[in-house]
Amino acid sequence: MPSQSYLRPSTALDHLKTYARSDGLAVAELMDSRVHGGLTYNDFLILPGKIDFAAHEVLTESKITRNVVLKTPFMSSPMDTVTEGEMAISMALLGGIGVIHHNQSPSAQAAMVRAVKRHENGFITDPVVLSPSNIVEDVLDVKERLGFSGIPITDTGSLGGKLLGIVTNRDVQFRSPSTLLSDVMTTNLVTAPEGITLLEANDILRDSKKGKLPIVDKEGRLTSLLARSDLLKNQTYPLASKLPESKQLYAAAAVGTRPADRDRLRLLVEAGLDIVVLDSSQGNSIYQIDMIQWIKETYPNLEVIAGNVVTREQAATLIAAGADGLRVGMGSGSICITQEVMAVGRPQATAVYAVAEFASKFGVPVIADGGIGNVGHVVKALALGAGAVMMGGLLAGTTEAPGEYFYHEGKRVKAYRGMGSIEAMEQGKPVPPSAKINGGSSSHKHLNATKTITHENAATSRYFSESSAVKVAQGVSGDVQDKGSVKAFLPYLHAGLQHSFQDMGIHSVRELQEGVKRGRVRFELRTASAQVEGGVHGLHSYTKRLFA
Ligand code: IMP
Repeated sequence: MPSQSYLRPSTALDHLKTYARSDGLAVAELMDSRVHGGLTYNDFLILPGKIDFAAHEVLTESKITRNVVLKTPFMSSPMDTVTEGEMAISMALLGGIGVIHHNQSPSAQAAMVRAVKRHENGFITDPVVLSPSNIVEDVLDVKERLGFSGIPITDTGSLGGKLLGIVTNRDVQFRSPSTLLSDVMTTNLVTAPEGITLLEANDILRDSKKGKLPIVDKEGRLTSLLARSDLLKNQTYPLASKLPESKQLYAAAAVGTRPADRDRLRLLVEAGLDIVVLDSSQGNSIYQIDMIQWIKETYPNLEVIAGNVVTREQAATLIAAGADGLRVGMGSGSICITQEVMAVGRPQATAVYAVAEFASKFGVPVIADGGIGNVGHVVKALALGAGAVMMGGLLAGTTEAPGEYFYHEGKRVKAYRGMGSIEAMEQGKPVPPSAKINGGSSSHKHLNATKTITHENAATSRYFSESSAVKVAQGVSGDVQDKGSVKAFLPYLHAGLQHSFQDMGIHSVRELQEGVKRGRVRFELRTASAQVEGGVHGLHSYTKRLFA
């Protein structure tokens, strides 16, 4: 290196930078699989850059299909333990998108899509409702399980029934648990008409000094509820994923590629679907090509995410068929045993890079699906060219994921299972009564007990197993620890992402991907001992709290 003494400061800096640029590896060197083999996210790191801005200035906006841009690059998997209506609404409010699974009847799936499209922030559209013949004990049970006691009472005991009263904490205090709610409910009600704006409803709630405001239609039937406690929380979601024109939340759902899926898709489109995800473990098939072409002819405005793929060749077929986005991953999911059993797949970092590098030439974004275990993995997926990440296991333990919490070995958990697990492939088969009543610690009682058999199994089609006499599992079934609400967890992922970008000296996803392409963002491989060094080590014990 030349001595700096005879160089002017700015020239010296340029020289220094030229030398410094050779530090680490450019992405093509890192991803040369002939030298390093296939890589996972844990096999490398990104070298730091220069910080001259605040983390909150970082823009995480990114494209997930040709025409859809999200403010945060987060998607939830179409799995029956991850994404139903509640998760899809929350993901969209927080700037991401949830893909509603199809291991359920087409009408149930369409109802969830409709719920996302109809969602008005602040209104509770699926409140807990009881009937006058319920008893005080039922209210105490709701309070214990869900933490609130302001419950509307309708003649049918469900939403859509005629509103008769409301039961609050004070109504049930000091009452015998067997007292009928008809004897204790408050019937002097303040209500608001359906169609009222959130702002107007909030005013009524404030003036009435009540805890809950039931919203009713012209016939007095309950349509939704507004809670004072929600009013006190921040009700605005500045990052929400909304269509620019209608301001409705984006709705995405998965379908298979069989003829029956065309009927399913019709229902979903009628319900307002914006993005369809063709759900297959190996997307490069004649069925998927036919399906993409049919969708493009029938619903030209529907965005189609095709997949899954892990090679350029697979991607080429689906792009040629008309895909607007590609889902990348085969065998990287936390519940996945595909690579073990099928000997087919690809390490995820290599797969994301290969497909993204190829698809970007045609303007098709890719989604890095599976294997996301922490914020760092998200950053690495984006650096390798992904427009977003898709998460299953990381979100399955949140409140908004389907299923109830239960205790397993002293930990509060929720069921999480692969769609290629035997349990998911058998979804819809009757559950023995014993499993429903005293199913021990089996997580599936929580799922199976709530589903009915009204559809062909979607999981079998995802793994091309419908016609097989023997079902070969490609996934396992287990549980994941309680993660609290996605409304706290996703903002953590977002803030984590912004801090990581700050460390890299990068202001946006676009700048990151451009920097990687031009060789300005540099990488380093991690040896096995480097990975040990990069984790917590040498402590007798510790607590790992991820955010506060
Ligand atoms: P995770 O985020 O690592 O838990 O992975 C979730 C992803 O795994 C999903 O989005 C699917 O692409 C994939 N997946 C879901 N079920 C299975 C399965 O049974 N076997 C293999 N992969 C699966």
